[in-house]
Amino acid sequence: MQITYFGHSALGIKTAGKNIIVDPFISPNPAAASIVVDGLAVDYVLLTHAHYDHIQDVERIVDRTGAKLIANHEIVTWYNTHRKYEGTAMNQGGSMIFDFGTLKAVTAVHSSSFPDGTYGGNPLGFILRAEGKSIYIAGDTALTMDMKIIPIFDSLDLAIMPIGSVFTMDVDEALVASEWVDCDKIMGVHFDTMPLIAIDHTEAQKKFSDKGKELLLLKIGETLEI
Ligand code: NI
Ligand code: MN
Repeated sequence: MQITYFGHSALGIKTAGKNIIVDPFISPNPAAASIVVDGLAVDYVLLTHAHYDHIQDVERIVDRTGAKLIANHEIVTWYNTHRKYEGTAMNQGGSMIFDFGTLKAVTAVHSSSFPDGTYGGNPLGFILRAEGKSIYIAGDTALTMDMKIIPIFDSLDLAIMPIGSVFTMDVDEALVASEWVDCDKIMGVHFDTMPLIAIDHTEAQKKFSDKGKELLLLKIGETLEI
Protein backbone atom coordinates (compact mmCIF):
# COMPACT_ATOMS: atom_id res chain seq x y z
CA MET A 1 0.00 0.00 0.00
CA GLN A 2 1.30 3.45 -0.91
CA ILE A 3 0.19 6.57 0.92
CA THR A 4 1.05 9.96 -0.53
CA TYR A 5 0.63 13.14 1.49
CA PHE A 6 -1.08 15.98 -0.38
CA GLY A 7 -1.02 18.46 2.49
CA HIS A 8 -3.46 19.27 5.31
CA SER A 9 -5.52 16.03 5.64
CA ALA A 10 -5.45 15.07 1.97
CA LEU A 11 -4.01 11.68 1.11
CA GLY A 12 -3.64 9.52 -1.93
CA ILE A 13 -3.83 5.82 -1.15
CA LYS A 14 -2.91 3.26 -3.76
CA THR A 15 -3.89 -0.28 -2.89
CA ALA A 16 -4.97 -3.34 -4.83
CA GLY A 17 -4.53 -1.37 -8.05
CA LYS A 18 -7.06 1.29 -7.02
CA ASN A 19 -6.46 4.94 -6.23
CA ILE A 20 -8.32 6.47 -3.31
CA ILE A 21 -8.09 10.14 -2.48
CA VAL A 22 -8.95 11.14 1.07
CA ASP A 23 -10.28 14.61 2.01
CA PRO A 24 -9.06 16.48 -1.08
CA PHE A 25 -8.14 20.05 -0.15
CA ILE A 26 -5.20 20.60 -2.45
CA SER A 27 -5.70 23.39 -4.99
CA PRO A 28 -6.66 25.99 -2.31
CA ASN A 29 -3.61 25.06 -0.18
CA PRO A 30 -0.58 27.15 -1.22
CA ALA A 31 1.75 24.65 0.48
CA ALA A 32 0.47 21.96 -1.93
CA ALA A 33 1.04 23.99 -5.10
CA SER A 34 3.40 21.28 -6.38
CA ILE A 35 0.55 18.74 -6.55
CA VAL A 36 -1.20 18.67 -9.92
CA VAL A 37 -4.79 17.85 -8.95
CA ASP A 38 -5.84 17.44 -12.56
CA GLY A 39 -3.12 14.84 -13.07
CA LEU A 40 -4.16 12.51 -10.24
CA ALA A 41 -5.64 9.11 -11.03
CA VAL A 42 -8.63 8.63 -8.74
CA ASP A 43 -11.12 5.76 -8.45
CA TYR A 44 -12.65 6.69 -5.08
CA VAL A 45 -12.98 9.87 -3.03
CA LEU A 46 -13.18 9.07 0.67
CA LEU A 47 -14.51 11.92 2.83
CA THR A 48 -14.37 12.05 6.63
CA HIS A 49 -16.73 15.04 6.90
CA ALA A 50 -18.08 18.00 4.96
CA HIS A 51 -15.90 20.87 6.20
CA TYR A 52 -14.42 23.00 3.43
CA ASP A 53 -10.85 22.00 4.24
CA HIS A 54 -11.72 18.37 3.38
CA ILE A 55 -13.92 18.67 0.29
CA GLN A 56 -12.72 21.65 -1.72
CA ASP A 57 -11.40 19.61 -4.68
CA VAL A 58 -14.15 16.96 -4.74
CA GLU A 59 -15.99 18.41 -7.74
CA ARG A 60 -12.82 19.12 -9.68
CA ILE A 61 -11.73 15.49 -9.21
CA VAL A 62 -15.06 13.72 -9.69
CA ASP A 63 -16.05 15.78 -12.74
CA ARG A 64 -12.80 14.77 -14.45
CA THR A 65 -12.44 11.16 -13.28
CA GLY A 66 -15.95 9.94 -12.46
CA ALA A 67 -14.57 8.70 -9.14
CA LYS A 68 -17.08 7.27 -6.67
CA LEU A 69 -17.65 8.87 -3.29
CA ILE A 70 -17.49 7.09 0.04
CA ALA A 71 -18.73 9.14 2.99
CA ASN A 72 -21.57 9.43 5.45
CA HIS A 73 -25.19 9.36 4.30
CA GLU A 74 -25.70 13.13 4.32
CA ILE A 75 -22.60 13.87 2.24
CA VAL A 76 -23.29 11.13 -0.31
CA THR A 77 -26.91 12.26 -0.59
CA TRP A 78 -25.92 15.92 -1.05
CA TYR A 79 -23.54 15.14 -3.90
CA ASN A 80 -26.01 12.71 -5.47
CA THR A 81 -28.87 15.22 -5.33
CA HIS A 82 -26.91 18.32 -6.38
CA ARG A 83 -24.19 16.89 -8.62
CA LYS A 84 -25.53 13.42 -9.64
CA TYR A 85 -22.37 11.80 -8.27
CA GLU A 86 -22.46 8.12 -7.36
CA GLY A 87 -21.45 7.17 -3.89
CA THR A 88 -21.57 4.68 -1.07
CA ALA A 89 -22.83 5.81 2.32
CA MET A 90 -21.53 4.38 5.55
CA ASN A 91 -22.07 5.23 9.19
CA GLN A 92 -20.36 4.64 12.52
CA GLY A 93 -19.63 1.00 13.27
CA GLY A 94 -20.40 -0.20 9.78
CA SER A 95 -18.01 -2.12 7.55
CA MET A 96 -18.18 -2.63 3.83
CA ILE A 97 -16.18 -4.58 1.26
CA PHE A 98 -14.93 -2.69 -1.80
CA ASP A 99 -12.77 -3.85 -4.70
CA PHE A 100 -9.71 -2.32 -2.98
CA GLY A 101 -10.32 -3.79 0.49
CA THR A 102 -12.63 -3.25 3.45
CA LEU A 103 -13.55 -0.01 5.13
CA LYS A 104 -14.94 0.30 8.62
CA ALA A 105 -16.44 3.62 9.70
CA VAL A 106 -15.55 4.61 13.25
CA THR A 107 -16.30 7.44 15.63
CA ALA A 108 -14.78 10.86 15.16
CA VAL A 109 -15.66 13.56 17.67
CA HIS A 110 -15.94 16.73 15.63
CA SER A 111 -18.67 18.48 13.60
CA SER A 112 -19.61 18.35 9.92
CA SER A 113 -21.28 20.98 7.77
CA PHE A 114 -20.91 22.07 4.16
CA PRO A 115 -19.47 25.53 3.49
CA ASP A 116 -23.01 26.96 3.12
CA GLY A 117 -24.03 25.61 6.52
CA THR A 118 -25.94 22.55 5.25
CA TYR A 119 -25.78 19.72 7.76
CA GLY A 120 -23.02 17.30 6.81
CA GLY A 121 -23.90 14.29 8.97
CA ASN A 122 -21.67 12.71 11.59
CA PRO A 123 -17.93 13.09 11.10
CA LEU A 124 -16.25 9.72 10.59
CA GLY A 125 -12.92 8.03 10.90
CA PHE A 126 -12.12 4.93 8.86
CA ILE A 127 -10.18 1.71 9.23
CA LEU A 128 -8.89 0.56 5.87
CA ARG A 129 -8.03 -3.12 5.61
CA ALA A 130 -6.24 -3.95 2.39
CA GLU A 131 -3.30 -6.04 1.18
CA GLY A 132 -3.01 -7.63 4.63
CA LYS A 133 -2.58 -4.24 6.35
CA SER A 134 -4.83 -2.20 8.60
CA ILE A 135 -4.61 1.54 8.72
CA TYR A 136 -6.61 4.01 10.78
CA ILE A 137 -7.63 7.30 9.19
CA ALA A 138 -8.85 9.24 12.19
CA GLY A 139 -10.33 12.22 10.34
CA ASP A 140 -10.76 15.43 12.31
CA THR A 141 -11.33 14.27 15.85
CA ALA A 142 -10.77 14.90 19.51
CA LEU A 143 -9.23 12.21 21.63
CA THR A 144 -12.11 9.85 22.39
CA MET A 145 -12.50 6.71 24.45
CA ASP A 146 -14.09 5.06 21.40
CA MET A 147 -10.55 4.72 20.02
CA LYS A 148 -10.10 1.88 22.52
CA ILE A 149 -12.55 -0.20 20.48
CA ILE A 150 -10.22 -0.18 17.48
CA PRO A 151 -7.51 -2.61 18.70
CA ILE A 152 -10.17 -5.15 19.71
CA PHE A 153 -10.69 -5.80 16.01
CA ASP A 154 -7.62 -4.45 14.24
CA SER A 155 -3.88 -4.72 14.68
CA LEU A 156 -2.92 -1.42 13.08
CA ASP A 157 0.10 -0.98 10.85
CA LEU A 158 -0.34 2.79 10.69
CA ALA A 159 -2.54 5.42 12.33
CA ILE A 160 -3.10 8.70 10.50
CA MET A 161 -4.09 11.31 13.05
CA PRO A 162 -4.61 15.05 13.27
CA ILE A 163 -2.05 16.78 15.49
CA GLY A 164 -2.48 20.52 14.91
CA SER A 165 -4.83 21.34 17.82
CA VAL A 166 -7.43 24.16 17.73
CA PHE A 167 -9.85 22.08 15.59
CA THR A 168 -8.60 18.58 16.49
CA MET A 169 -6.29 16.68 18.83
CA ASP A 170 -2.87 18.11 19.49
CA VAL A 171 0.40 16.18 19.60
CA ASP A 172 0.04 15.13 23.25
CA GLU A 173 -3.48 13.83 22.70
CA ALA A 174 -2.46 12.03 19.52
CA LEU A 175 0.25 10.32 21.55
CA VAL A 176 -2.38 9.04 23.99
CA ALA A 177 -4.59 8.09 21.03
CA SER A 178 -1.71 6.06 19.57
CA GLU A 179 -1.59 4.13 22.85
CA TRP A 180 -5.35 3.58 22.86
CA VAL A 181 -5.39 2.28 19.28
CA ASP A 182 -2.21 0.31 20.04
CA CYS A 183 -0.14 1.56 17.11
CA ASP A 184 3.51 2.60 17.14
CA LYS A 185 3.62 4.19 13.69
CA ILE A 186 1.70 7.43 13.42
CA MET A 187 1.40 9.78 10.47
CA GLY A 188 0.50 13.32 11.47
CA VAL A 189 -1.96 15.41 9.45
CA HIS A 190 -3.96 18.64 9.91
CA PHE A 191 -0.95 20.73 10.97
CA ASP A 192 1.06 23.65 9.52
CA THR A 193 -1.59 24.53 6.89
CA MET A 194 -2.03 27.89 8.60
CA PRO A 195 -0.18 29.56 11.49
CA LEU A 196 -3.02 28.65 13.88
CA ILE A 197 -2.20 24.93 13.61
CA ALA A 198 1.57 25.14 13.17
CA ILE A 199 3.59 22.66 15.24
CA ASP A 200 7.20 22.21 16.29
CA HIS A 201 8.24 19.13 14.29
CA THR A 202 11.31 18.22 16.34
CA GLU A 203 9.50 18.51 19.65
CA ALA A 204 6.49 16.55 18.36
CA GLN A 205 8.62 13.72 17.01
CA LYS A 206 10.64 13.56 20.24
CA LYS A 207 7.48 13.14 22.30
CA PHE A 208 6.66 10.04 20.24
CA SER A 209 10.18 8.62 20.11
CA ASP A 210 10.44 8.99 23.92
CA LYS A 211 7.56 6.50 24.11
CA GLY A 212 9.12 4.14 21.56
CA LYS A 213 6.80 5.34 18.81
CA GLU A 214 7.39 6.99 15.46
CA LEU A 215 5.66 10.16 14.30
CA LEU A 216 5.94 10.50 10.53
CA LEU A 217 5.61 14.04 9.19
CA LEU A 218 5.67 13.57 5.44
CA LYS A 219 6.59 16.35 3.09
CA ILE A 220 3.83 17.30 0.69
CA GLY A 221 4.15 14.97 -2.28
CA GLU A 222 6.09 12.37 -0.29
CA THR A 223 4.97 8.74 -0.44
CA LEU A 224 5.02 6.20 2.36
CA GLU A 225 5.07 2.48 1.57
CA ILE A 226 3.54 0.20 4.18
NI1 NI B 1 -13.24 19.68 10.22
MN1 MN C 1 -10.40 20.05 9.17
